[in-house]
Amino acid sequence: MRVLVTGGAGYIGSHTVLSLVEAGHDPVVVDSFVNAKPTVVPRLAELAGREIPAHRVDLTDAAATAELFAAERFDAVIHFAALKAVGESVARPLEYYRNNLDATFSLLAAMAEHDVRRFVFSSSATVYGEKAPVPYQEDYEPLVSASPYGQTKVMIERVLADVAAAHPGWKVALLRYFNPVGAHPSGRIGEDPQGIPNNLMPFLAQVAVGRRERLTIFGGDYPTADGTCERDYIHVVDLAAGHVAALDHLDAMATDVRAYNLGTGSGTSVLELLHAFERAVGRELPYEIGPRRAGDLPAFWADPTRARAELGWEATRTIDDMCADTWRWQSANPQGFPDA
Ligand code: NAD
Ligand code: WQD
Repeated sequence: MRVLVTGGAGYIGSHTVLSLVEAGHDPVVVDSFVNAKPTVVPRLAELAGREIPAHRVDLTDAAATAELFAAERFDAVIHFAALKAVGESVARPLEYYRNNLDATFSLLAAMAEHDVRRFVFSSSATVYGEKAPVPYQEDYEPLVSASPYGQTKVMIERVLADVAAAHPGWKVALLRYFNPVGAHPSGRIGEDPQGIPNNLMPFLAQVAVGRRERLTIFGGDYPTADGTCERDYIHVVDLAAGHVAALDHLDAMATDVRAYNLGTGSGTSVLELLHAFERAVGRELPYEIGPRRAGDLPAFWADPTRARAELGWEATRTIDDMCADTWRWQSANPQGFPDA
């Protein structure tokens, strides 16, 4: 299939582009490069062994999005493009609602106009809110998120259900990711946050490479085995494979809209991840225990049963794989992707 990958220059999108090529699909990237460097595109070509078409379009620009669909034919869309920093979304909610919702509206309108009916959406475990029982299961209601960022995911899931109901023949997979980490085993692409990383793994990687002095662990007094929070970390290459599995399953999906958890089904604490990363690097890393971060939940992970049963997909890579691949990427590219 010829697949439009929105946000395809970003962290998860870029890895998914490669998985699509490996599976025999034909990806086309669209990205505004608001949170990605254009130099990722030639690296994708290098790894894929062929050119990857890429368009610079801000999807909130409905006219530019319509032009793209008028110029090219797509069989499916995988929609990664979004702003994703939770804390920033609390400080700048309008920017987040506008970017994430408007980009989706432009895309859905262009799809309806050109009769493109297959849609895979980047949702998040954040939609389960603070009250869902662990492990999280897809049918849990009500979906609600504590941050404006997370609310954009809840809202878009709802919009997609309404659009699919109104347009017979649409098939929509809502992929709820847990904590994506790791990098392509080549070490040529990986996560490249701008500024100070908000997330644990890229922060650890920058400590290891000498860009940050030490890790501050946000809270050591949680009701968990070692007092630090537990999360379901999933290797980005497994996650990318989950997108291909979802795409290939869309036409056979029993319902027009279906949510799938993409996680491993088990939790790892901050201290456990730190120690795994130390094994990958081969030395101890400096850290301190600091205060809790507002909004963090003590522990959650996925029930991945549905994805295994219906998509035939499951995560296979271990925490040690995630750390080794992150370290290969970060040590070979200490400053991330080059500017030009
Ligand atoms: P990322 O920032 O690396 O990738 C997103 C890409 O979208 C970037 O390249 C950015 O430039 C682009 N983009 C943003 N707004 C755009 C717009 N208006 N028009 C065109 N392009 C635009 O983030 P990621 O980690 O790869 O996340 C991809 C998707 O997965 C996002 O929707 C994110 O919310 C979701 N997600 C991420 C995580 C995570 O922890 N990384 C977890 C759950 C869900
Ligand atoms: C993991 C653990 C922190 C940094 C976020 C979003 C979520 C989803 C995935 C998009 C927590 C601790 C972190 C640090 C630390 N994204 N930590 N020191 O918060 O589980 O999920 O990314 O949908 O919506 O909220 O991931 O990597 O930020 O934190 O101790 O410097 O690491 O407290 O326990 P989180 P994270």
